[in-house]
Amino acid sequence: MSDSPVSHHSPDKPSEAADTAEPASPQQQKQMEAQFQQMKRQMAMKKIAEDIKHKIMVLSGKGGVGKSTVATGLAISLADQGLAVGLMDIDITGPNIPKMMGLTGQRLHVEDGRIYPNIGHGGVKVISMAFLLEDEDTPVVWRGPIKLGAIQQFIADVEWGKLDHLIIDFPPGTSDEPLTVAQSLPDIDGIVIVTTPQEVALLDSRKSISFAKTLNVPVLGVVENMSGYTIRGSAEPNSSMTVKGPSGVDIDVDVDAEGNWSATLDIFKVGGGKTTAEKLNVPFLGALPFDPGVVRGGDDGVHRIIAEPKGESAKAFEIVVESITSQLGGEEEDTLRII
Ligand SMILES: Nc1ncnc2c1ncn2[C@@H]1O[C@H](COP(=O)(O)OP(=O)(O)OP(=O)(O)O)[C@@H](O)[C@H]1O
Ligand SMILES: [Mg+2]
Repeated sequence: MSDSPVSHHSPDKPSEAADTAEPASPQQQKQMEAQFQQMKRQMAMKKIAEDIKHKIMVLSGKGGVGKSTVATGLAISLADQGLAVGLMDIDITGPNIPKMMGLTGQRLHVEDGRIYPNIGHGGVKVISMAFLLEDEDTPVVWRGPIKLGAIQQFIADVEWGKLDHLIIDFPPGTSDEPLTVAQSLPDIDGIVIVTTPQEVALLDSRKSISFAKTLNVPVLGVVENMSGYTIRGSAEPNSSMTVKGPSGVDIDVDVDAEGNWSATLDIFKVGGGKTTAEKLNVPFLGALPFDPGVVRGGDDGVHRIIAEPKGESAKAFEIVVESITSQLGGEEEDTLRII
């Protein structure tokens, strides 16, 4: 080793600078590696943002109001229109999208450090932490930073390919997860807020709307789920009939070619989602009825809009999807920003 502080480069001799440099401490090496990984991830996020035309987050203030059901229905409806759709389950402690998409027990395919989504109904590309769990019944307890790192990795390392829409489902509340996604993934088109008609859920959805503003992501609107109750039955195919609803209200019903009919009764307080949306100056996207078939669909992995494409729930979903896509605009148009 040379004593001189200046290293003289000779063509025959390797530079002494390399020899004299202090080797990085394990701590520094770890930091450098972490910075490198972070940089790689940021580049990957940028590419993903470019490859995916529209990114939609589905949030709610309260748990169990139907976020995953709405996210899944949205993904399937868009795929039915021939669009390339991805569905990402960010609920990493209680992931249930795979079950709803009929993908229970599937594993992820990893090649060259890239994660390949599983393919669900209608060709929807699905990513969920459930695909990594050994045992789907054992809850995973993630410590804060690990959880957020896992989410970033889940976004950046997934090979989505080119997508028209990516729907992102979250755990309930204004937690770290949506913040991490909004900070990591550029150009999120907007947030769909799911609520139920009860006052408590509506109050919580107000919080979600102000949370969306702090995230600086536009609110695409509010969906009122479990609004009214759908009954069904069978009768003479292609006939019409009248069903007596609550308070003696007559409901006209058309029986389909297979002899099935369904009607939605307003037995709960309905319309709170619409009022909340109007008060807070965000669009109302539509109301989805309480439909016992939705519960079965969630459990057996066949969404109502697949099992009964002409049923009340499917029709209600169509309105919600239409309200969302009309805001996103066409290929060339700019997304309408609401905040
Ligand atoms: N419109 C509906 N009619 C009947 N049941 C519904 C409806 N929407 C959702 N459900 C049922 O309610 C339960 C909760 O729905 P879901 O899992 O979609 O809610 P979530 O908001 O994602 O819950 P979490 O906060 O736990 O993630 C499920 O069993 C689902 O099948
Ligand atoms: Mg959920």
